[in-house]
Amino acid sequence: MRFKIAVLISGNGSNLQAIIDAIESKNLQAEIAVVVSDQPTAFGLQRAQRHAIGTEVLSAKSFKNREEYDVALQKLLDNYKPDLIVLAGFMRILSPGFVQHYQGKLINIHPSLLPKHRGLHTHEKVLAAGETEHGVTIHFVTEELDGGPIIVQESIPVSSNETVESLKERIHAIEHHLYPKVIQDFVENKIKFK
Ligand code: GRF
Repeated sequence: MRFKIAVLISGNGSNLQAIIDAIESKNLQAEIAVVVSDQPTAFGLQRAQRHAIGTEVLSAKSFKNREEYDVALQKLLDNYKPDLIVLAGFMRILSPGFVQHYQGKLINIHPSLLPKHRGLHTHEKVLAAGETEHGVTIHFVTEELDGGPIIVQESIPVSSNETVESLKERIHAIEHHLYPKVIQDFVENKIKFK
């Protein structure tokens, strides 16, 4: 049976595109069961539709609070029986119940060398701190924001003429080769939650 993933997005979805491309070029032996967005206008939804991948929109506006949203999200996802849930620019914090339900099956990609620079604006933070190294982390999601066990990291040197834009571009390039690779490692059962 094919390894099924669900991809959660809120925006552009360039990482989703990288995953789709890896599947189509047979570098990733998985199937995207569904793409879920909390934003109806997320460009990533169009990317999925172009490749005939099913999409669902779950807007926060329809729910009273985070817990109710997450219960609905869990129900929606469980219908697809995903082997792995891949957060790819999904801009919501997930509640403990949700995270525990998918423990070991829920991963995120973050544009910094965690535990440095959790949260948003990581490129700005790296430049403001005058750091000479930046990078990408893929990690399991736990209740602690950007704090779950690290699966893999890749770093790049930061040069003196670097800008937020140049860092964003270089970091994205790393993300796009690293995320499909890590997902394939899950397919091959090479990664375990510790
Ligand atoms: C990526 O930089 C990822 O690390 C972060 O959100 C961004 C999503 O970009 N979590 P995209 O929507 O995949 O282009």
